[in-house]
Amino acid sequence: MPRSIDAFALAGKRVLLRADLNVPMKDGAVADTTRLDRLAPTVEEICGKGASAVVLSHFGRPKGKRLDELSLRPLVGPLSRALGGRKVAFAEDCIGPVAERAAEGLASGEVLLLENLRFHAGEEANDPAFARSLAALGEVYVNDAFSAAHRAHASTEGLARLLPAAAGRSLEAELAALATALETPERPLAAIVGGAKISTKLDLLGNLLDRVDTLAIGGAMANTFLHALGTDVGASLCEVGMADTARAILADADAAGCEIVLPSDVVVARALEAGAPAETVPIAAVPDDAMILDIGGGSANGLSARLAECRTLVWNGPLGAFEVPPFDAATVAVAKAAAQLTRAGSLRTVAGGGDTVAALAHAGVAGDFSYLSTAGGAFLEWLEGKTLPGVAALGG
Ligand code: 3PG
Repeated sequence: MPRSIDAFALAGKRVLLRADLNVPMKDGAVADTTRLDRLAPTVEEICGKGASAVVLSHFGRPKGKRLDELSLRPLVGPLSRALGGRKVAFAEDCIGPVAERAAEGLASGEVLLLENLRFHAGEEANDPAFARSLAALGEVYVNDAFSAAHRAHASTEGLARLLPAAAGRSLEAELAALATALETPERPLAAIVGGAKISTKLDLLGNLLDRVDTLAIGGAMANTFLHALGTDVGASLCEVGMADTARAILADADAAGCEIVLPSDVVVARALEAGAPAETVPIAAVPDDAMILDIGGGSANGLSARLAECRTLVWNGPLGAFEVPPFDAATVAVAKAAAQLTRAGSLRTVAGGGDTVAALAHAGVAGDFSYLSTAGGAFLEWLEGKTLPGVAALGG
């Protein structure tokens, strides 16, 4: 575990707090405040200890250019609301005289949000001079942005090496939740992995099959495995060129004692459209002109029954095309079963990745899981077993 903020006497200090305010927006408003809400306890603790907080974040991918539509200014109000109405000042730049004046003017307990870090190319380049300009704004560095920890950028990596550095409470909570899920889990441990392509999840599958007892594969990725095992998947999305890789993964899983669960029945349709005529067929009976768009009810029930025998579940990726009903049915059914087992105390459930959290919210069970990661890419890299540079730089 990285150093915690308990390691520092914060009173009177200016804390540079790396947050992830890269929140989804819709019609100019924040569509999901989870990242802001999770940041709030760290800000409150910093302010409560008599320090001031200079909040640093990226927003979108402006690639070193100042783009009005990617300004963080619209986040001032939502951040202030997440902080229970605490006033949040804003500086038009994240380095240089504007930022310095704003930071120097902070009294203890005050919060300043700086403009988008990625308006400067030095952020993504992890440029030492840019990191030094950031470091000049404060005396202590706290990183509470687990979801950006897979980026070795100036504000996530370089800065941590220039100032006394610690993890914020939300980053700590993410690491603790993920560690109990994959490093020290209660067994049996299951993983559900969905998504479109094996090719983007090779490292993840390779890491998981060494760690989990059961690995259930859904989404279009399952089609490639079915194809590799000789099943005709009709007009389904399928990476034909990955068949050898899929077979190698199955052999590795076998050698590692990891049981792979593939669907035995599937939902097929001729179009990926809401309400398109759909039928459930055994995997051996997929029509030539039909696409597999969800795992079938029998497979979903079988998977739910397996989860009832497990103690821990890690979930990344929906089982079907859940954005388009009726192809959400299996994801919703298994999510509800996992939620029910969690409520009953028999299963610890950890989920992450953008689509996954959206799918669980769609199923109405997001609040029932033991832990939902706020991270997309960082959660995936953690599942792949990679060291996250933003965490590594905090030491510990
Ligand atoms: C995220 O939203 O997953 C993080 O903020 C990382 O954003 P990025 O992929 O643009 O680095």
